Amino acid sequence: MSISSQAELVGMKAISEAVAVTLKQMREYARIGMTTKELDEYGRTILEQFGAKSAPKLTYGFPGWTCISVNNEIAHGIPSTATVLKDGDLVNVDVSAELDGFWSDNGGSFVLGNDINNHSALVEASKEILYKAIAAVKPGTRIAELGRMIQGEATRQGYKVIKNLVGHGIGRSLHEEPKEIPCYYDRFNTNRFRKNAVVAIETFISTGSSHAYDKGDGWTFVTRDGSFVAQHEHTLVITDKGALILTKSNGI
Ligand code: CO
Ligand code: CO
Repeated sequence: MSISSQAELVGMKAISEAVAVTLKQMREYARIGMTTKELDEYGRTILEQFGAKSAPKLTYGFPGWTCISVNNEIAHGIPSTATVLKDGDLVNVDVSAELDGFWSDNGGSFVLGNDINNHSALVEASKEILYKAIAAVKPGTRIAELGRMIQGEATRQGYKVIKNLVGHGIGRSLHEEPKEIPCYYDRFNTNRFRKNAVVAIETFISTGSSHAYDKGDGWTFVTRDGSFVAQHEHTLVITDKGALILTKSNGI
């Protein structure tokens, strides 16, 4: 969507606060020995306190309130009683929701407990690249150039990017124009960021794979070669003065 009134900005700020606080509190609540289903149920209670509804559930009938992806899972992981969190796991929580007709999306990867599997550098790189990308977004910037920049930063730090998972426009629904904000230079993408547009910018930084594969459960994306992926995501408004990050409260 494009913000055209103060009321729209107020609406986007309210839902963005809801998803950001939910993400932050879920990250803090996560414990070794907890199932991802328990973590998701906790997220549900926070969303409900805000009066917000799970976006993936509402839009796609996703079997959970939030997406929780562990280790070789990249995105859209289904919260499950069978997935027990362990020390050193690479965990990604992605929270998107709707409130009063406004939609917002944010996510973040983190290492649970002690970093015994050495995922911290990947997580930090993803976070750092997200902030560099956000700093580069201006009205008129080519979306392809943002992708070039994200991929360039990843390459410089010894990582790859996932090419078939992307950021997107958001606001009046979960996914809207621009439909694809990729983490690589797509020369066929001639779109530019517009002033006052609301977008979800997300990184998919990988230790090896450039492609996300279906796990076979209808939802989850995984790597197949043992590589790991970190993702960080903010929803923001593009202004002349730079990006106004709406999901800042997630503490990423
Ligand atoms: Co998301
Ligand atoms: Co998103």
